[in-house]
Amino acid sequence: VLAPIQPSQLTSIKKLAETPDLNFIPSNYAYYNDPHEISASESQDSIPTIDISLLTSANPDHKSKAIQDLNKACQEWGFFMVINHGIPESLMRAMLDVSNEFFNLPEEEKPKFEPKDVLEPVRYGTSFNSAKEKVFCWRDFLKVFVHPEFHCPHKPTALRELLLEYCEKTRNLVRKLVRGISESLGLEEYELVKTLNLDSSLQILIANYYPPCPQPQLALGMPPHSDHGLFTLLIENQVGGLQIQHKGEWFNVNALPNSILVNTGDHLEIFSNGKYKSVLHKAIVNNKNTRISIAMTNGPSLNTIVSPSSKLVENEGCEPAYIPMKYKDYLFSQQNNPLNGKSMLNRVKIQNN
Ligand code: SIN
Ligand code: FE2
Repeated sequence: VLAPIQPSQLTSIKKLAETPDLNFIPSNYAYYNDPHEISASESQDSIPTIDISLLTSANPDHKSKAIQDLNKACQEWGFFMVINHGIPESLMRAMLDVSNEFFNLPEEEKPKFEPKDVLEPVRYGTSFNSAKEKVFCWRDFLKVFVHPEFHCPHKPTALRELLLEYCEKTRNLVRKLVRGISESLGLEEYELVKTLNLDSSLQILIANYYPPCPQPQLALGMPPHSDHGLFTLLIENQVGGLQIQHKGEWFNVNALPNSILVNTGDHLEIFSNGKYKSVLHKAIVNNKNTRISIAMTNGPSLNTIVSPSSKLVENEGCEPAYIPMKYKDYLFSQQNNPLNGKSMLNRVKIQNN
C-alpha cells in the first residue's frame, strides 16, 4: 500500500482512482491488513422474490400468499427481490445513466464537496463520513432528500425530471409494500402508515459510485452495516458487488434485469419488536469496472418517535425490546459516526441478560 492520504488532501474516490499508474491504494483505504477473500456464496436461486402485482390482487388467495411470502422473506432473509413493481426498466436505466453523468461532471458543477451537516438535503461526498473515519470507503456518493420535500442538484439538467418520475413511481411501490408488511405482521393494513406518519415519510435517494480499485481484496466500497429506516430499495448497473449476510454467511447478490432489491432496515426491526431483523450488507469493489447503485431509503417522518408497535406487543404478549427514539436523532447519530455493523441499533436495543 501507499502512504496514507492526509485528511486535508482528501478528494473524490473517482479522482484518486483516475491517478495514472495507480497500482496500490493509500493505507487509509485498506480495510484489511491482508488480502481478504472477496468471493461469497452464490445464492441467486434462493433469494426470495415477491411479485408486487399479487400483493394488490383482487383474488384473496393470491393476496394472502403474497403476504405470507413477504412475512417469510422478512423473517428469514431481511432481503428480497421485487418483480412486477411498476417501475419501467427504461426509467431505472435512465436513473443509473444520469447518476453516472453526475459523478462525471466537473467538480465546480457539483454541490460543494463534503458539507459538514449530515442532515443537509443535498450532500455530495466520499466514503461515508470522512470527518469521523480512520479507514475510508472506496466510494463517492450523492444523497438527496426527495420526500416530504423534494430537493435536487441543478446538474445534470436531465436529473430533475427523471428523479421526480422515479420518486412518484417508487412511492407507489413503497405504499404497496408498507401495507403488505403491516398485514404480514398481523396488523391492520394501514397500521404502519399511521403509526409512523408515512404520509410524510423521509425518503433519501443515494447514488453510489465505486470506481475500479487496484487492490480490491484490501478495500471495501462499504463495510458491513444495516440501514436506517423501514426498508431500502436498490437498483444497480450490471457490475455486481453487493453482499448480504444470511445465517452468518455472506452471499453475492446481483439484481436480475428489471428487478428491484429490497432490504429491511433498523426501524422495521424496532417497529416489529425484533420480528423482522434489519439485514447486514456490504459493498465490495473490483479492479475492472465502475459500479453504480442507487438506493432509496424509506423512513418514518423525521419527527416521529419510533418504538415497538404497541398493538404488536399487546397481540404477542411480549415486552418492548427497543427504547423509543426520534427518527431524526437516530439518523443524525448514525450518519455522524463511521458505519459499523448494527452499532447504532444496538444503542436502542434493550439487552436482556
Ligand atoms: C448501501 O448499502 O446503501 C449501498 C450498497 C450497494 O451499493 O449495493
Ligand atoms: Fe446500506
